[in-house]
Amino acid sequence: MDKLIIHGGKRLKGGVDISGAKNAALPIIAASLLASGYCTISNVPNLKDIMTMGRLLANLGAGFHYEDRKAIINTEKVKIFEAPYDLVRTMRASILVLGPLIARFGRAKVSLPGGCAIGARPINLHLIGLEKMGADIKLESGYVVAKGKRLKGTSIYLDVPTVTGTENLMMAASLAKGRTLLENAAREPEVVDLANALISMGARIKGAGESVIEIEGVDELKPVNYSIIPDRIEAGTFMAIAGITEGDIIIKRCRLDHLDASMMKLKEVGLVFEHVSDGIRVIGPSRPKAADVKTMPYPGFPTDMQAQFMAIMSIADGTSIIKETIFENRFMHVAELRRMGADIIVEGGTATVKGISKLKAAPLMATDLRASASLIAAALAAKGETTVHRLYHLDRGYENMEEKLVKIGADVKRVKE
Ligand code: EPZ
Repeated sequence: MDKLIIHGGKRLKGGVDISGAKNAALPIIAASLLASGYCTISNVPNLKDIMTMGRLLANLGAGFHYEDRKAIINTEKVKIFEAPYDLVRTMRASILVLGPLIARFGRAKVSLPGGCAIGARPINLHLIGLEKMGADIKLESGYVVAKGKRLKGTSIYLDVPTVTGTENLMMAASLAKGRTLLENAAREPEVVDLANALISMGARIKGAGESVIEIEGVDELKPVNYSIIPDRIEAGTFMAIAGITEGDIIIKRCRLDHLDASMMKLKEVGLVFEHVSDGIRVIGPSRPKAADVKTMPYPGFPTDMQAQFMAIMSIADGTSIIKETIFENRFMHVAELRRMGADIIVEGGTATVKGISKLKAAPLMATDLRASASLIAAALAAKGETTVHRLYHLDRGYENMEEKLVKIGADVKRVKE
């Protein structure tokens, strides 16, 4: 296992290139199963989760090759329809092969993803939707076993605007017979990117990005060459890093229209944004002001930015109330921030953060993907040497983080545990 050794307390300055969005690449790679032939997906970040999805597709008999941020997938020889536990347990997004396998092959056996650090994360809405489309779904010793001749279009109301649930059902409906309405659908940009990729494959989809998505099923889809959107959460993370280090960072290749809620909140706490020729310049305040935030489904403030925002609030001038409404246990970074002197009290889904003037360096342990980003942001602000252990959490979602940090002047080193 690797760890990061960070000597913080420096004002970071320079440019960072944002990578492709992990949470768009994963469903779009899974969507290649809906057609037979070669798909080339570009701007795919070099991340562990991407390689896991590649291994999963190879397990099904597909060819998967990753080079130069391109994933080349050949689905002509897919003949196995099982996603095994040992792969699914390392990455919950494996569930995204369920919809495509049922829709294209009429059968699938996918391990139920276990819970994860941040919550139980059930997939009941994925399964209810597929059953409504005519799939026969059984749960057998920890696996979802699904069978279905041709799925039928229908109306599906999602109790919760689930992101991967919307994605699974949109993929399944693309090859169903007839029209499907997904109501209370997730509106995330990654859902829109998947819809655009499916449309390039010949799918007939209207309303992606809105709460009602209409899919007119077709008989066949064709392989696609497609380029992934930039990662809005990585961009937001570097904005937070500018905010906590009084930094002056130019963030390149990001889609600002995907960051409205995050930028509005960051402006509220004192960050200044300036459009420049090759991106957006973000200038952090000498000391952030406190502000309250509540995580919401897109276009609200993203849950994936909550931990990073809390790191900024831990040194803010004042008290902030942070409400996490999406996941039931997404405050594991609190205990670690407290080790740095942060004054944070958690009651249920609400954290009360009393800003202190300076965080203190300390040995820390990452617990999940976005918590690791939060701890790194805090460490960059704290004078002295901080070590962040269990870096594999970070590697799931941030490509070459330490190189990008060194490029903006951070004193960061990755070492083997
Ligand atoms: C996606 O997870 C993202 N992952 C998550 O990013 C992100 O935090 C999350 O959406 C919310 O934005 C990928 O896209 C691969 P949900 P997902 O289904 O789809 C409940 C990261 O940091 N729910 O939208 O699993 C669920 O319990 C990761 O990159 C049901 O009750 O999230 C949760 O409370 C972490 N039943 C809420 O909905 C279901 O069938 C939102 O979950 C499905 C979900």
